[in-house]
This record gives sequence, C-alpha cells and structure tokens, in this order.
Amino acid sequence: MFETESDVLDWYENQPRAITKEFLNDIEWNKIKDQPINPAFKPVITYMRDVESFTEIYYQELLRTPTGKNPVIRKFMERWSGEENQHAELLNRFLGEAGFPSSEAWQQEAKAAIPFRYTFENRLYPVITNCFGKYFSGAHMVWGAINEMTTLQGYRRLWQLAEHPVLEKLLRAIAQEESIHTHFYWSIARLKLEQSGFSRNLARFVIGKFWTPVGQGTKPKRETDYVIGTLFKGEEGVNFFDRNVNQRLEMLPGFDGLGKVTQRIARIAL
Ligand SMILES: [Fe+2]
Ligand SMILES: [Fe+2]
Repeated sequence: MFETESDVLDWYENQPRAITKEFLNDIEWNKIKDQPINPAFKPVITYMRDVESFTEIYYQELLRTPTGKNPVIRKFMERWSGEENQHAELLNRFLGEAGFPSSEAWQQEAKAAIPFRYTFENRLYPVITNCFGKYFSGAHMVWGAINEMTTLQGYRRLWQLAEHPVLEKLLRAIAQEESIHTHFYWSIARLKLEQSGFSRNLARFVIGKFWTPVGQGTKPKRETDYVIGTLFKGEEGVNFFDRNVNQRLEMLPGFDGLGKVTQRIARIAL
C-alpha cells in the first residue's frame, strides 16, 4: 500500500519493461503464418491495435486538464503512452505476419476514421473537467484503471481463445505491462479518493453515468460490441470479467456495490 503519489511513481519507474529488445529478438515472427489464426479474431486484434494507438489522443486530452498538470501523473504518462504505442505496433506486425497486412498509413487511417462527434466532445471535455479542478483527477484515474484492467483481461481472454503460441507469447508480455499500468492508475485513484468525499462522489457519479468500454467513441459501438461479444461471451465470460475487473473496481473507496461496469458488458455478452 502506497502512502503518497510519489511512492507510486517511484514504484512504476522501478518496474522493468517486459517488452525488451531480447524479448523481441526471441519472437518467431516467421512462424506466425504456420499456424493460421481464426479470422474471427482479426477484427478483435485490429480494434485493440487501433485503441492502443489512440492512447496518444487521450494523453493529449489529459494534458489540458488539471490531472495532466499533476507532476506525478505527467511523468507516468510520458512513459506509459510510449508503451501503449509499442503495443499497437506489435499487434500490427502480428496481423501482417498472420496474413492480414495493413497499409503503411494504418495509424493515420484509424485516426481519420474517428467520428467528428468524438472530436467535438473532446474539445469540450477539458472545459468541463477544468470546472471541477483537481477533484476530477480521482475520476480520471478510476477511468484509467478500468481501461487498463479491461485491456489486460481482454488480452488474457484473447490468448486463451485464439490458441496461437506466438500471439500468446506477445500478449503475455503486453499484459504484464498492462498489469503495471493498472496498478499505477488504481493506486493513484485510491489515494485521490481517500482524500475527499467530493472526489469520491464525483468519481462514482461519472463512472456510473458515463463509463463506456475502452475504445467506444473513437470506434463505432458495433465494433466495441463485437470485441466484447467475442472475448467475454456468455455467463462464463461475464463472470470472468466481473471477477477480474468489476470486483477490483469495487475495492476503491466509494465504489462499493457499483455493478455498472459488469452490467454494461453483460448487456452485450449475454
Ligand atoms: Fe497497451
Ligand atoms: Fe496499458
């Protein structure tokens, strides 16, 4: 249990990367095509790749809010956004090797496909969050923690369902980094929420009312639904999600009994 935000940052900065040069040299890229992957997972991996690459947009948004001006969070985000971008590139390389190549400009194309409504709301967003000043940071950190947990569990489900050895190896390393991100967001969220009842109420209200699965908004809802429906299908998938995401969320101060996140997933997956 950390006592200050700087302790959390120190911890993060001491975590070695799972994706190192040695790790990448070890990946048998040329063997990927030997074991065909079920094409049903192609849209899932593409979605994950694009959403990883959109981290940059989220990062830029946050920089314009009081949360982004917090020196600890800012320092974290510099390294974090680079790691997410590398995850995007690895997933893209996997897709190419697996027989689903994308154009050189896939990143620009994915960005260009983000609906105008999202871009518009995005410009309003710092204005709204700035009204609440630093009290909004708790909500930001909870939101980030949920996104990281969801991504991590999504990757776990993907390697379990896809049964592709090279994909599994890649995803296990990516997931290790997602787990470190989760711990950072979750720990800062806990400290922020402990500080004030107003932060707790605001964060619970914002998540309860506005939370949408990671990527939705930048991606059309049907694509988000496809990913959720594929990875967390049926009662077993929903229980997996609830155990690993919602129940951890509920351990944060002020979040007891908020079943909202699982309910959103269940509506799609059941
Ligand atoms: Fe990532
Ligand atoms: Fe992450």
